[in-house]
Amino acid sequence: MIKSDEALFEARLSRHIDELRWLYMELYDDETLFGELCSRMRDFALERTGALAERDSLREADPEWYKSRNLTGMMMYIDNFGGTLQGVCERLPYLEQAGVSCLHLMPFLNTVPGRSDGGYAVADFRTVRPDLGTMEDLEALTAACHEKGINVCMDFVMNHTSENHEWAQKARAGDAEYQSRYFLFDDPAIPAEYEKTVPQVFPTSAPGNFTFLPDLGQYVMTTFYPYQWDLNYQNPRVFNEMMYNYLYLANRGMDIIRIDAVPYIWKELGTDCRNQPKVHTIVRLMRMIGEIVCPSVILLGEVVMEPVKVVPYFGTIEKPECHMLYNVTTMCTTWHTVATKDTRLLRRQLDILCTLPREYVFLNYLRCHDDIGWGLDYAALQDWGMEEVAHKKYLNDYFRGLREGSRSRGELYNDDPASGDARLCGTTASLCGLETAETEAEIDLAVRLDLTLHAMVFMQSGIPMLYSGDEVAQLNDYTYKEDPQKADDSRYLHRGKMRWDLAGRAEDLSAPEGRIFQGIKKLEALREACPAFSVYADVWLLDTGDDGLLAIGRYAEKQKIIGVFNFTPEAKTITCPYDPGEFTDLLSGEQYTLEDLPIPAYGCRYMERKFTE
Ligand code: GLC
Repeated sequence: MIKSDEALFEARLSRHIDELRWLYMELYDDETLFGELCSRMRDFALERTGALAERDSLREADPEWYKSRNLTGMMMYIDNFGGTLQGVCERLPYLEQAGVSCLHLMPFLNTVPGRSDGGYAVADFRTVRPDLGTMEDLEALTAACHEKGINVCMDFVMNHTSENHEWAQKARAGDAEYQSRYFLFDDPAIPAEYEKTVPQVFPTSAPGNFTFLPDLGQYVMTTFYPYQWDLNYQNPRVFNEMMYNYLYLANRGMDIIRIDAVPYIWKELGTDCRNQPKVHTIVRLMRMIGEIVCPSVILLGEVVMEPVKVVPYFGTIEKPECHMLYNVTTMCTTWHTVATKDTRLLRRQLDILCTLPREYVFLNYLRCHDDIGWGLDYAALQDWGMEEVAHKKYLNDYFRGLREGSRSRGELYNDDPASGDARLCGTTASLCGLETAETEAEIDLAVRLDLTLHAMVFMQSGIPMLYSGDEVAQLNDYTYKEDPQKADDSRYLHRGKMRWDLAGRAEDLSAPEGRIFQGIKKLEALREACPAFSVYADVWLLDTGDDGLLAIGRYAEKQKIIGVFNFTPEAKTITCPYDPGEFTDLLSGEQYTLEDLPIPAYGCRYMERKFTE
C-alpha cells in the first residue's frame, strides 16, 4: 500500500523534527512561529501531487541522482536565449542536441528595469517578469523539461529584496514591523561602525554598504546595489516568509535551488558580515526543510570565497548543508594559468581538492554571468615571486590583450584604484583569442585553447556547467555600452543575446562554432561512458616535469584515464613514465605510451589505459 501524502510528510518530518526545532529555537526562541513554519511546510508538501510527488519518492530512493555522470548543465538568460519562457520551451530540442540535462534559468522574477542587477533585485518572489511570461509558463517549462530528462535550476535571492518589494515599500512608508525586516538606522554612527569592518562588493559601481534614504532620514544596509536592501534574518518573520517563498518556488517544478550570495545573510556588528556561524544554521535548516517538503530538490550554494570558507557550506556528512557548491577557485586559477602558462598553482589547488571527501560535489565551470574575481592563493604565488596587486594587474592586462603574446579580449569590472583591485569580464571564446584571431592558424589555436579548457572542466569531479553561447564560441557583445540601463555594468559584455546564426553551424566541423560544439559533445559522451569520471573515482596529479602542462589521473572500475593539458602555444612531447602500458587517446583515437606523448599547442588528451584481468 502506497503511503498517503500526509503520512509521507509526517514520516519525513519526524526524521528531522528534533534538530529542526533545536536549531530554530537556538536562533529565534519562538514556539508560535516554529509551529507556523511546520504547518506551512505541511501545506507546501501536500501541494506536491502527481509528477512532483513521484519525483520526490524516486529521488529519496536514489539520493545521489545529482552525482550522475550524465548530468551536464547550461546556464542562460531566458530573454537572451528564447525571448520568453515559452520561447525557451520551443528551444528545448537545441538543448537536447547540445547534450544539456540541467538548465539553470537566470533570475526571472519580477524586478524593476534598470534597477534589477540582472534580476538579482527581486520585487516579488511570486511573479514572473511580465515580459518573460507567467508562473503557469514556468510550470509548463519545468514539466516539459522533466519529460525530456532535463533538470531545472533557479536562483533564490535570499540576502536582499529590491527596494520595490512590498516589504521595502511598507518599511519606507514607516511601518515598524516591515522596517524590522531590514537594517535601518537613524544614527549614522552605526553604519559608520559597520563600514569599519565590512568590505565592499561593488567598490566602484556601488561603493559602501549603506544607502541614505532622505524621505525617512535613515540609512538602510545595501551590501550590493543601493536598490538591494539586505534582509534581517535576526527577525524570525523574515526567515519564515523567505522559507515560504523558497518552497513556493520549489513547487513550481524546480530540481535545484541556487542560494544566491548565501555567505552574506547574517550580519554581526564588528565582523566582516560574511560566513557567520549562523549562516550555517540557516542553511542547515533549509536543507532539512527541503528534505521534509520537497526531497527531490537540492541546494546549490553560491559561495564565491576562498577554499577554506567554501568547504564548510557542505556541512558535515551527518549534518549536510548544501548538496553542491561552485568550484570558484579552480575556475579563476584556470584563467590565471592561461595567462601565466604556469600550472604550479593549479596543481596545488587541484591537489587540495583531491583530499576532500568524495561526498562533496562541486559544480565546475569556466564562465558564468558574473565577472572573474582573482581569488587566488597569493601566499603560494608570493613564494614564486608573484605579488598580489602586481599580479592582478598582470592578469587584467593579459586578458585585455595588453601583454606580449596575448590575443585575449576582456574588460575590467569594478576597477578599484584604491586597492589596485579589479575583476574581469568576457566570454570564453573572446578570452581564448577567437575574437582577434585573423589567420587560420590563430583561429585554430584559439579553438584548441577553448576546447582544452572545457576538457579540463570535464576532467574534474562534479557537474560541468556550460555558459550559454560558449558551446558555439560566442564572442563578447559590446552593445551593452549603448544601453543606459547596462552601460555601467561590464558584466553585460558576456551577457549577449544568443547568436542563433552561430548555432546554425553546430554541425560544421570546418567552422570554429562546429568544432567547439562537437568537441564539447564528445566530452559529454566520454564522461557519460567512462566509469573513471565517477565522482567516487581516485583522482591524483602527475608531474610531467614541465610547468606548462597539467596532468590529472582518474581511476575507477578498472579504467584509468590520464588527462594531459597543454597551457602553452607550443607543441610538446612529454615523458611521464609512471605506467609503461599502451594508452589510447579517447579524444583523437590515437595510441601512445606515456613515455613519448606528443601534445599539440594548447592541446589536450584523455589517455585511457584499460586493464585486462
Ligand atoms: C550573486 C550574483 C550576482 C549578483 C549578486 C547580488 O553574486 O551572482 O550576479 O550581483 O549575487 O545578488
